[in-house]
Amino acid sequence: MPFDRSIKIAPSILSADFADFGREIRAIEDQGADWVHVDVMDGHFVPNLTFGPPAVKAFRRHVTTVMDVHLMIAPVDPYIDAYADAGADILTAHVEAGPHSHRTLQAIRAAGMKAGIALNPGTPAEAVAHLLDLADLVCVMTVNPGFGGQKFIDMTAKVRTLREMIGDREVHIEIDGGVDPGTAPMLAKAGADALVAGSAVFKGGSVDKPDVYGRNIKAIREAAEAA
Ligand code: DX5
Ligand code: ZN
Repeated sequence: MPFDRSIKIAPSILSADFADFGREIRAIEDQGADWVHVDVMDGHFVPNLTFGPPAVKAFRRHVTTVMDVHLMIAPVDPYIDAYADAGADILTAHVEAGPHSHRTLQAIRAAGMKAGIALNPGTPAEAVAHLLDLADLVCVMTVNPGFGGQKFIDMTAKVRTLREMIGDREVHIEIDGGVDPGTAPMLAKAGADALVAGSAVFKGGSVDKPDVYGRNIKAIREAAEAA
């Protein structure tokens, strides 16, 4: 996966039809998704439960782009090999998930994946200052993780700080939560390059009306690129 600084749209399949993941993944990819964002929740780190390694491995068979797996679980380390085996390209853990994020990022890379570190809205940019040499992606949460469709929390100042801290390192800044054509421009301008969007991509569409996904993806991308 060569480093790509351009805007990438990563639809979150948390907003897809849970009984039809294969066709949903193929539909968003056909309609221009750059990455497929997979939200793993454990009902403990966050108050919601989604899917685990066997489901993620089944998704993999349908993903031809990049499978971007966002772990909202604690602990993380016992599951890293299972997500490598499931075929994650990027594996992101929360900095709040435990005391040893440094070790976690090393283990993710050692397992052959790109390593991401996510920050909740209440966590300052400085929490990842000593992790940037071990990270391929920093995910800035713009909602409190756990659910799709929540109200956007403005974290543009944090994004700007992180962009400065990252300097010329090859580290993506991903935004997750409440991204739509209205919020995308300020995020892109602040230095984000990967935009996760659940409701704003799936809204109004379905596997039988996939062109709606395409229009939604295009609207977010164009808004971000125009910033
Ligand atoms: C939230 C998840 C997000 C979520 C985004 O906990 O990590 O990826 O699906 O959904 P929207 O775009 O609807 O805020
Ligand atoms: Zn997510």
